[in-house]
Amino acid sequence: MGSKSFRLAFFSTQKYDISAFECQFPEHISAEYFSQPLNESSVKLAEGFDGICCFVNDVLDETVIKNLSQLGVKLIALRCAGFNNVDLNAAKRHNIKVVRVPAYSPEAVAEHCLALILTLSRKTHKAYNRVKENNFDLNGLLGFNLHNKTVGVIGLGKIGSAFVKILNGFGANVIYFDPFAESELAKPVSLETLYQQSDIIALHCPLTNDTLHIINEEALEQMKPGVMLVNTSRGALIDTKACITALKSRKLGYLALDVYEQESELFFKDMSCEIIDDDVFQRLLTFPNVLITGHQGFFTKEAVSEIVATTLHNVNEFIANSPLTNEVK
Ligand code: NAI
Repeated sequence: MGSKSFRLAFFSTQKYDISAFECQFPEHISAEYFSQPLNESSVKLAEGFDGICCFVNDVLDETVIKNLSQLGVKLIALRCAGFNNVDLNAAKRHNIKVVRVPAYSPEAVAEHCLALILTLSRKTHKAYNRVKENNFDLNGLLGFNLHNKTVGVIGLGKIGSAFVKILNGFGANVIYFDPFAESELAKPVSLETLYQQSDIIALHCPLTNDTLHIINEEALEQMKPGVMLVNTSRGALIDTKACITALKSRKLGYLALDVYEQESELFFKDMSCEIIDDDVFQRLLTFPNVLITGHQGFFTKEAVSEIVATTLHNVNEFIANSPLTNEVK
């Protein structure tokens, strides 16, 4: 690059991104932070930049990528692991490289998944509110042990494996379904068996054409009555309306979500003074056995500092014209 600095535009920037990234850039990289998410209407902000840095809900479809290419952007640096929001074929056609942070802290997401399970199983969210009001009544707070429960894990990659290690410490019986990975940490089973046997089902697979709405009406029908379903992966793994029907029929006993199919309209911003138009989401909030967090599984000090380090490494490799360790093709 010579002495010219590499210009990197951040999209969907939050305050915590700026405090994590600023001061970390060497002199040859200059960053500008846009709070706007990347989409067709905001893509023009990328004019004059060599690369862009995006997050989970930025739209990187054919149209946006074509625009980026016309604006001179050569690099898409994802500051996340999932890349389901990127049209990789379009990026290839327009000669834009895509890099990501493949594993910033699988334990961060696995531990959050466990936090959701324990909150629902031991009702600590309700207990917290009761005790704040000097209400020490235990009625309605009856929980259940994880010990000896069957936990089904769909997708035994980095996060799934970290999750299984935690569950093994609880003395749970862990089974898993993953067509592409093997592990001695848990027992492999078919998807049908996993649905039939599990007391708790956790989703740790990526969102692909094969996994879109993997949890639908048919899958829910096969599950044990009262099953707990936990999704910390991607919202569209679940057909949310089918889950609402299963919650109403009491088939689904508990639902914990850190991700939601239409989350880009809601998450990562303060909507407390807004009217929320999404009736499906609002219905979910009415159930006492549904717990939702706003895509915070990744959000630990350790994970954020790893995201910064890997993103800088990725950008530096691109600038140096070196092989891209974390390229997605
Ligand atoms: P990974 O690539 O290490 O593991 C994914 C596993 O899913 C692989 O073993 C793969 O073989 C398996 N898989 C693929 N297709 C499958 C299918 N049809 N059925 C069952 N298993 C299948 O990915 P990692 O790092 O464990 O992340 C998993 C997902 O977690 C990511 O794709 C992302 O969507 C989500 N995630 C969520 C975060 C959050 O903040 N809530 C943060 C980071 C990732």
